[in-house]
Amino acid sequence: MKTITVLPGDGIGPEVTASAVRVLRSIMKHSQQDIQFVEKKIGGAAIDTYGTPLPQETIDQCQSSDAILLGAVGGPKWNAQSMNIRPEQGLLGIRKAMGLFANLRPVEAYQALIDSSPLKRTFVENVDFVIVRELTGGLYFGTPSERRGANNEQVVDTLAYSRTEIERVVEKAFQLAMKRRKKLTSIDKANVLESSRMWREVVNQLAKHYPEVTVNHQLVDSAAMQLITNPGQFDVLVTENMFGDILSDEASVITGSLGMMPSASLRSDKVGLYEPVHGSAPDIAGQGKANPLATILSAALLLRYSLDMDQEAAKIETAVREVLNQGYHTGDLQIDHQDDKIINTTEMTDRVIDAMNQNNAVTQ
Ligand code: IPM
Ligand code: MN
Repeated sequence: MKTITVLPGDGIGPEVTASAVRVLRSIMKHSQQDIQFVEKKIGGAAIDTYGTPLPQETIDQCQSSDAILLGAVGGPKWNAQSMNIRPEQGLLGIRKAMGLFANLRPVEAYQALIDSSPLKRTFVENVDFVIVRELTGGLYFGTPSERRGANNEQVVDTLAYSRTEIERVVEKAFQLAMKRRKKLTSIDKANVLESSRMWREVVNQLAKHYPEVTVNHQLVDSAAMQLITNPGQFDVLVTENMFGDILSDEASVITGSLGMMPSASLRSDKVGLYEPVHGSAPDIAGQGKANPLATILSAALLLRYSLDMDQEAAKIETAVREVLNQGYHTGDLQIDHQDDKIINTTEMTDRVIDAMNQNNAVTQ
């Protein structure tokens, strides 16, 4: 029996995680694997109930799970809270508490969505890369991070890394590159930052163990530009926490919508946390408008990386493609097809499950 902890969080989080759980339950009907789902609170929802964005109960439950499926956290309701009881602190806290240092964010072109990209079709068609973002170090966690001086008019944030922290995430990126097109782009700001100079050193050192992988280094400002002018060049990108945060939002829209991008946060064993890259979208929460596909695709990553269920993961991904190819999409995607059909969160989930079942019927 495997345990998946579900952390719906805030805003559209509960809607999109409910969709992904439905998809997982449907998949499990046709497999030998028994799964139990346990739901816990995080973010603003946890602040409302427990006065803290990450209750100990949630941490304990996650620590005894095989995988975690998370929706999103945050919203205007909690914006006035003091810094250390913000909903986001729950998300950062669970990543840190679980030691999930490698965040994989795949960006893939979907034929059906190419016209909803802000870029010209020719730039988007062959896009297929993964951003590997360091997730438990750097500017997000360095101390001191505070206001100081007599009148609190000084401020400091700290970008700190140990060599080991850099090595383990870069190693993951090399391993991933070996399974793909064997091209690794390391992104840093080595012309300014010492942390980046060590990052580069580590990449060059590890490169010796992976002679088949072509490695190149790009400065983060240039990489931001290259993502727009030539996204097809990339296979695996690896970068520190903050650069990865920024570049992954940029990258997500290349292929159409932030609503499509899944993520996997991993460590050295099989335990992982899976969440859509998009936020809690409080403006559309509770209206059934949310695009559940990023979370459904995150559930596919969960099957692949935490439960060794590659075939089932691929089934979900195929079903998503098929539904999009039939012209169905949620309102976040701007598609100007004559025959396109805008559907809601539940209908989208139904379509994906139907497509999976039809494919099962064909293969059985
Ligand atoms: C993300 C989000 C988070 C981050 C926020 C909500 C703290 O933007 O997962 O990319 O910056 O990591
Ligand atoms: Mn982000």
